[in-house]
Amino acid sequence: MSKFDLTGRKALVTGGARGLGAGMAEALAAAGAAVMIGDILVDAGRDAAKTLAGKGAKAGFVTLDVTDEASWQKAVAATISELGGYDILVNNAGVEITSLVIDVKAADLARMCAVNIVGTGLGMKHAFRAMKPGGPAGKGGAIVSIASVAATIAFPGIAGYSGTKSAVDRMTRVAATESGKLGYGVRVNCIYPGLVPTDMGMQLAGDVVAAGLFPSAEAAVGAVIGQTPLGRLGEVSDMADAVVFLCSDAARFITGVGLPVDGGMGT
Ligand SMILES: NC(=O)c1ccc[n+]([C@@H]2O[C@H](COP(=O)([O-])OP(=O)(O)OC[C@H]3O[C@@H](n4cnc5c(N)ncnc54)[C@H](O)[C@@H]3O)[C@@H](O)[C@H]2O)c1
Repeated sequence: MSKFDLTGRKALVTGGARGLGAGMAEALAAAGAAVMIGDILVDAGRDAAKTLAGKGAKAGFVTLDVTDEASWQKAVAATISELGGYDILVNNAGVEITSLVIDVKAADLARMCAVNIVGTGLGMKHAFRAMKPGGPAGKGGAIVSIASVAATIAFPGIAGYSGTKSAVDRMTRVAATESGKLGYGVRVNCIYPGLVPTDMGMQLAGDVVAAGLFPSAEAAVGAVIGQTPLGRLGEVSDMADAVVFLCSDAARFITGVGLPVDGGMGT
């Protein structure tokens, strides 16, 4: 059996209703995992789960607002009861609100902190509690959080977002250390995706134009590609395959890292 095979694993993917999360859910299912999609977008989340089930995967949907502790408790319980366990968390839900520093709004910063930092931290907490020995799932596992190339470079217009993704990176390393030292049996890693033209990626390209940083969305995208040694934008499957790798036994001795999946942009 391939070391990348995830047969028998049970995964919860936050923000899995669309974009990168939907692609990650699909790739995990294709590798053999049962997948629970957690999102605030109920109709799109249910549709994404149905699509996976239509391809023969065991899949479900649970309403999850990652900023809310009670919502996490419900989602983890639903994952364990519906899938029969909990071995993989993909902390993917995130928001990006573009602003020049000189115009930044407290409410926007607070929203990004709530979803990107609090949401990721609560996901780690409830995964540890469920997956560690003696927990209701109890078999250890793997957490992959989705940071961003924005945690590794300075791109104008996204100061607040970059700060929250740097926090995801630091939390990953501390959580990995605690898990190792305290014997939770959970590997904790993150990836730094480059720009991918999802809803979020395309919105960002438009917003940096509105902020006066680029003459057009094409120019903004061109600047990103120009900074990328592999000379293209990222694709959903680029990120999804990296997540499958980090969740699999092929990554069994890897914890506490941030893996750039950015075509070299952050190098
Ligand atoms: N697209 C990119 O270029 C890019 C690059 C680097 C990192 N990322 C990161 O990848 C992740 C996915 O991005 P995407 O491009 O697919 O974005 P997207 O906006 O297309 O999808 C984000 C998903 O997260 C969900 N979500 C938002 N707030 C939530 C909450 N409170 N609780 C639960 N779900 C919530 C949304 O409903 C949506 O389904 C994000 O963390 C993002 O910051 C994206």
